[in-house]
Amino acid sequence: MKVTKVALEEREMPTSWYNVVPDLPEPLPPVLHPGTGKPVTPDDLAPIFPMELIKQEVSTEPHVEIPEEVQEIYKMWRPTLLHRAYRLEKELDTPAKIFYKYEGGSPPGSHKPNTAVAQAYYNKKEGVKRLATETGAGQWGSALSMGCMFFGLECKVYMVRISYEQKPYRRILMESWGAKCVPSPSKDTKAGENILAQDPDSPGSLGMAISEAVEDAATHDDTKYSLGSVLNHVLLHQTIIGQEAMKQMEKAGAYPDIIVGCVGGGSNFAGTFLPFIKDKIKGKKPDLRIICAEPKACPTLTKGPYAYDFGDVAGLTPLLKMYTLGHTFVPPPVHAGGLRYHGMAPIVSHLHKLGLIEARSESQVSIFEAGITFARTEGIIPAPEANHAVKVAIDEALACKKSGQGKTILIALSGHGHFDLGAYDEYLSGKLPDYEYPKEKVKEALAALPKVAK
Ligand SMILES: Cc1ncc(COP(=O)(O)O)c(C=O)c1O
Repeated sequence: MKVTKVALEEREMPTSWYNVVPDLPEPLPPVLHPGTGKPVTPDDLAPIFPMELIKQEVSTEPHVEIPEEVQEIYKMWRPTLLHRAYRLEKELDTPAKIFYKYEGGSPPGSHKPNTAVAQAYYNKKEGVKRLATETGAGQWGSALSMGCMFFGLECKVYMVRISYEQKPYRRILMESWGAKCVPSPSKDTKAGENILAQDPDSPGSLGMAISEAVEDAATHDDTKYSLGSVLNHVLLHQTIIGQEAMKQMEKAGAYPDIIVGCVGGGSNFAGTFLPFIKDKIKGKKPDLRIICAEPKACPTLTKGPYAYDFGDVAGLTPLLKMYTLGHTFVPPPVHAGGLRYHGMAPIVSHLHKLGLIEARSESQVSIFEAGITFARTEGIIPAPEANHAVKVAIDEALACKKSGQGKTILIALSGHGHFDLGAYDEYLSGKLPDYEYPKEKVKEALAALPKVAK
């Protein structure tokens, strides 16, 4: 029977998150304290995160139960659908079977509430009153605003200035859910003031906004910090996507040969592929290919070294072993705001270093071209971030056409682009610029990598 979309019943929604850590072929490098150079302890992290999330960050349990209250909220839009992209396949005239797992049906329009709701829940449970965070394109900020609203927490969002200006409707979305949103760098923090003193026209970056949000949390007793990507607990919460997708692929009588997704900090894609990579690691599907798509303007995995670096510009965070373009790197203002991050999740970085996943970088114009092809076949207008995944999937499907192989491709379609229509407008009117990889600037930024004893 022809399967166009696969739904799961609410009762089939996974009730635990999958933790890849015990299944890794080699252990993750430790997170280091920048002052001592020693591995961080839970006490080091306690001023900015609630203890339950710190425990999850270092957990070696294979599964972590999803609290009932979080499951209840997930069920407002989960399980999300798995679609078969018949019309895209036909347009490409490919023998490949293309599936996509669509996270754009959540209220804020992306995968981000999977962790936002969980983080708001654990903070509320530990008596926190207010959360501070950063946001790029505004997807994460809006997701956390909604998560905080559900649990009665205040929320302050530092939004990368370039996105704040490009996407005013995201701010309004955050304010509608009761959050306060300011452009970053802002004058609300010392970190922001210092950056503005050096460059009053700074377009901002995720690294800068993180510095502001961490400082906010560290200087307010009732406030903790919340991060929308990169960290182990965030990837853990996103594994609801991949676990659902596994059940749905099974229902469709298929298993992916190739999984593609976009990576900013790595959370939506890791959340999708981690449950599958277990089969690759354990030898059940050794030839599974997992391809990370990133912008040519911010080529972390494809051009950055694997090194210890700060997660933010001001150097307030612990040191993470990751692919990085240097914490002072300010990426060009491409529309995929959520992919403008200098670093990468330590788990994703580790898997890349071990050769278990691949990476590819794509240009801004080419990803919008792919997004329009998707919109004109499947109807959905993807987020600019997700267009990177669509571009790689289309290229792989065209390679199948050449080779005559009917491979199964799974796309992690992380969100919709309804708040990014200005960017689509630029593309459609031929005004969208492409950005060259700023080699010299990256070189400068890499010179500022922290020194860590071997
Ligand atoms: C729709 C969408 N996809 C992807 C990303 C990138 O984040 P991550 O790599 O953590 O999934 C973002 C970040 O804002 C986003 O909004």
